[in-house]
Amino acid sequence: MKKKVFLTRTLHDFALKELRKKYQIEIHSGKIPIPQSKLRSKIKEIDGLICFPYDIINREMIEEGKNLKVISTYSVGFDHIDTEYAKKKKIRVGYTPEVLTDATADMAFSLLLDIARRVTEGDKIIREGRWKEIYGAFDYVGVDLQGKTVGILGLGRIGSTLAKRVKAFDMKITYHNRKPVTKSKERTLDAKYVSFEKLIRESDFISIHVPHTKETDGLFNMKIFKKMKKTSFLINTSRGKVVNEKDLVIALKKKIISGAGLDVFDKEPISKDHPLVKLPNIVLAPHIGSSTKETRIKMAEITVKNLNLGINGKKPIYSVGY
Ligand code: DGY
Repeated sequence: MKKKVFLTRTLHDFALKELRKKYQIEIHSGKIPIPQSKLRSKIKEIDGLICFPYDIINREMIEEGKNLKVISTYSVGFDHIDTEYAKKKKIRVGYTPEVLTDATADMAFSLLLDIARRVTEGDKIIREGRWKEIYGAFDYVGVDLQGKTVGILGLGRIGSTLAKRVKAFDMKITYHNRKPVTKSKERTLDAKYVSFEKLIRESDFISIHVPHTKETDGLFNMKIFKKMKKTSFLINTSRGKVVNEKDLVIALKKKIISGAGLDVFDKEPISKDHPLVKLPNIVLAPHIGSSTKETRIKMAEITVKNLNLGINGKKPIYSVGY
């Protein structure tokens, strides 16, 4: 009998074809993510799960997976999965780093450019028929990028790739990591290691590239916003929970910082009534960091490979924990 695999969202045809050959598959269809209660009943019957960042695979969920051998997430982030508990239960966890590095770095840089030059705001002005109101020398001014400092929090794969984009725009790069990268990497990227405190105080743009962990939960809060330059911008393409959103709303409203560009949020999706949506000095994207045709295909390939390996008790190509 074929092993059972459940997908919480559909994937590309080539991926489904391969999965169908080997397994009995079921896919959650519909526009909204699968309700947790439904997933909890599905997980009871399956050997393999393909999931997405908005599916919460916590201890209780894993507990239900009596036959579960692998959780293959279609994402680089895995903070939605209790990987420690999966490890304890000897369930493999696969994820999709590397292939989405360029796309996500591009997204971070797009948000940075957009908020600096007010592209989305301009688009809105035109669509609302208000262009004629803004023709003066002081209307609709953005800020130059050249010579400004970008502070990259987390100079890993995505942070380093962002640094290359930043360098090409004649901007200065500082970064903070738990440990500095090698001198040769610093030279190649033209990146200078600074303390977290210095990064916060001196950057014109801060781009967050750390995972969501106990240590980074709500790291960007009012205390930090007050230390940032009034003229600075915050960019986040990592995980929403790294930023305290309530504090960010106040910081943007009171102009404690100048603006923000966000691709990720505390709870996704956010509604059109969310306080962030009401603010003019923010650019919002619906968690599309990895969303390019090419990248999404590569992610599907890896997700399937990870699943194939894990379901047979082998280590996924990109594996967390067990
Ligand atoms: C991921 O893969 O974790 C990204 O956040 C998706 O954009």
